[in-house]
Amino acid sequence: MKLWESASIGTVTLRNRTVRSATNEHLAERDGRMTKALIECYEELASHEVGLIITGHYAVDALARVDAGQPYLDERTDRALLQEAAERVHAKGGKLVIQLNHGGLNASEKVNGRPAQGPMELSEADRSLLLQKYAAAARLAKEAGFDGVQVHMAHGYLLSSYLNPKENVRGDAYGGSVENRFRFPGEVLKAVRKEWGPEGMVLVKVNCDAVEDLHRVLELCEEAGADAAEVSGLGFAHQEVKGEPFYLKEALAAGEGIRIPLILVGGIVSEKGAEQVLEAGIPFVSFSRSLICEPDFIEKLKGGAEKSKCIHCNNCFRVYRERYRRCVLHRQEIPQLRKTFGE
Ligand SMILES: Cc1cc2nc3c(=O)[nH]c(=O)nc-3n(C[C@H](O)[C@H](O)[C@H](O)COP(=O)(O)O)c2cc1C
Repeated sequence: MKLWESASIGTVTLRNRTVRSATNEHLAERDGRMTKALIECYEELASHEVGLIITGHYAVDALARVDAGQPYLDERTDRALLQEAAERVHAKGGKLVIQLNHGGLNASEKVNGRPAQGPMELSEADRSLLLQKYAAAARLAKEAGFDGVQVHMAHGYLLSSYLNPKENVRGDAYGGSVENRFRFPGEVLKAVRKEWGPEGMVLVKVNCDAVEDLHRVLELCEEAGADAAEVSGLGFAHQEVKGEPFYLKEALAAGEGIRIPLILVGGIVSEKGAEQVLEAGIPFVSFSRSLICEPDFIEKLKGGAEKSKCIHCNNCFRVYRERYRRCVLHRQEIPQLRKTFGE
C-alpha cells in the first residue's frame, strides 16, 4: 500500500508517508523551558512507525507563548536537549521537524505579562527583530540535528493573521492584496530557508479557509523556498469527523500546478481516509488527535486496524490542564502535566 512506501521531502527521505501533525504537547516547564518529557513524547511516536514527527509549536519569541505548557526556542534553550530529541527520534527510524510559531493575537497575556500582538500592532522594528528570532530558532534546530523546521502560518496565530484579510487590514505594503498579506510570512520563510540553505526540509502549514486565495499562497510559499506545504483550516476543531478528510477538495483545487508536495491534515482517522488522500494525488497524510488518543495509532494502522479510537470530543484541548491527561480515554495522569499546570 502506498502509505507505507518511503518518500522524500526536500533532501530528507521518510520511511513512509505518515506525518504527526504539530500538536502542542503542553510538556514544557511553566516558564517555557524545554523538557525531557517532550523528547519522550517524540520518541514514543517514532517508535511506533510515524514517518515524520512535527513537534508542537515552539515560540520563537518567549513573550508570545499561547499557554504555560508551550516551550520557547531561543538562545537560552538547552542545546543538549534539542540534540537528544533529534538523536532519539533518529534511533527509532523517524525524522523530526520543529514547528516555529508566534502566538500573535492568541498569545496569553497572563503567561507572558505582555498584551497579545497581531499584524496591526507590530511595528517595522518589531518585524525585523522577529525575523531575527525566527532565523535564530531555525539555526538552533539545524545545529541540533533536526531534519527541518515548519513555519506555522495557520490556526489564527501571528502569520495566519497576516494572511487573513479579516485580521490584517493594514493599509501599507503588508496588507491588502494576497501578495502584500504574504509579505511578512514570506520574509519569515525566506529567513528560515536561508539558515537551512538547500539542506533538510523547510515546511509551512497554511489554512485553506482564511486566506482568500490558497492557490496563490501556495505559489508564494514555493517561491519563498518551502519544500512542502501542509494544508489545514482555521476551523478544524469545529468540523464534523465523518471518516473523510476535511480539506481534501480545497487542497486539490488549490494544489493544481503547485510543484511542492502537499501534506493534508484534518479528520483523517482510518486507512481508508489516508488512501483517499494518496489516491487523489496528495503524497503525505498527517494526523493529530488520533495520535493524542493512541500514540501507536500508525503502527496499529499498519497492522490492519481499521480506524482510530479517538471520539473527537475535543476534550484534549482541556484535559491537559484540568486533569493532567492527554485524552479523556486515557486513565493515567502524566506527572509532567501536573507539574506544568498544577498549583
Ligand atoms: C490538543 C491539540 C494541540 C494542537 N497543537 C497544534 C500545534 O501546536 N500546532 C499546529 O499547527 N496545530 C496544532 N493542532 C492542530 C493539529 O495539528 C491538526 O491540524 C488538527 O487537530 C486536525 O487534525 P486531526 O483531525 O487529525 O486532529 C493541535 C490540535 C490539538 C487537538
